[in-house]
Amino acid sequence: MSSLLGWIDDRFPLTKMWNEHLAQYYAPKNFNFWYFFGSLALMVLVIQIISGIFLTMHYKPDSHLAFGSVEFIMRDVPYGWLIRYIHTTGASAFFVVVYLHMFRALLYGSFKKPRELLWLFGMFIYLALMAEAFMGYLLPWGQMSYWGAQVITSLFGAIPVIGNDLLTWIRGDFVIGDATLNRFFALHVIALPLVLIFLVIAHILALHEVGSNNPDGIEIKKNKDANGIPLDGIPFHPYYTVKDIVGVVVFLFFFAIVIFYIPAGGGFLLEDNNFIPANALKTPAEISPLWYFTPFYAILRAVPDKLLGVGTMGASIVILFLLPWIDRCKVKSIRYRSAIYKVNLTIFIISFGALAYLGMHPVTLTNTMLSRLFSFLYFAFFIVLFITSKNESTKPVPDRVTS
Ligand code: HEM
Repeated sequence: MSSLLGWIDDRFPLTKMWNEHLAQYYAPKNFNFWYFFGSLALMVLVIQIISGIFLTMHYKPDSHLAFGSVEFIMRDVPYGWLIRYIHTTGASAFFVVVYLHMFRALLYGSFKKPRELLWLFGMFIYLALMAEAFMGYLLPWGQMSYWGAQVITSLFGAIPVIGNDLLTWIRGDFVIGDATLNRFFALHVIALPLVLIFLVIAHILALHEVGSNNPDGIEIKKNKDANGIPLDGIPFHPYYTVKDIVGVVVFLFFFAIVIFYIPAGGGFLLEDNNFIPANALKTPAEISPLWYFTPFYAILRAVPDKLLGVGTMGASIVILFLLPWIDRCKVKSIRYRSAIYKVNLTIFIISFGALAYLGMHPVTLTNTMLSRLFSFLYFAFFIVLFITSKNESTKPVPDRVTS
């Protein structure tokens, strides 16, 4: 084995890469629960790619055949139902894991200097993931696939001057049709997964360049021993590979419960209307996207003007990119930050959850007023953060990590 390894190492930096990114990558020794979600996101990405490959073997990207081919997968392909449920549950699991992963960054200031680029790569991953999920949802060609795509693509039509032409260009037709299905299929199965893989590699390389943050928000590279090894660091492998396996097992336990017992998730993972084939002549009474898009959908619907609504929704995502420059506090971790930050973040999370809820429910006067209130609070988080973070009264940060 060692001579084979030597042969490979003379021709390819296998051991070098193993050491740099695992065996000799020193991660802070105080990682907690919130640090499970990066490796889980990586695993869900792999699950989605593998289950997606098998679905593609039986799926037909043709508006006359697509719905039937999905039914064929569910009923006739051996274990097709399992592969499909893994993929549909995996899509929602991806967002659960990524939202928790992003929330961790807000808790511990992981987006701050020197991790701004790491955060930006993360935000581009998030955008690509949203595009991937949106395009994948058209493929079963059910009523929600069709009308969801109709509503969201029509938003481009709100852009002045070029809107209508842009809309036709995106759809490849004057309405959502076969051409749209074909291009969404191409983007969903090859273009966007490639973009995601590339961005995830860049994300991890950027992380390993600057080193991981931790729940105390201390740079462990500042305290090194005589050999240049961080005093508060432990090798990623075997310590965190083993820890991450615990996270994987717990995750797979819940993942399996959903797949085997509640695969439609009560309409949260697979909407009831999507079990009806797409019908261009019959608009469903209520069109709403899956849960992970509903906070932004609620912001869109909260604004009466279409163009302004699209702009506000866009701004609610773009503003997240700017977080490293909006938060000007030198202290990273919430453990040592002021009560203002804690209250501000709590209100932000409540607003995000409330918007998610409102975006799932029909438009009524009360819902619209509440959506406006919570949209305001969503943006207020960033404004308050920008104003208060510069001279925030923080607690003293310890020199070494606390256990
Ligand atoms: C496919 C999706 C993603 C994958 C596979 C992924 C993977 C990872 C991994 C393996 C880590 C190191 C382990 C950990 O800190 O949990 C990490 C760290 C990080 N990720 Fe991601 N990530 C993804 C999406 C995102 C997104 C959407 C954001 C934010 C916009 C983000 C921001 C960060 C930050 C700031 C860190 C450093 C955290 C720290 O050191 O405290 N990631 N990511």
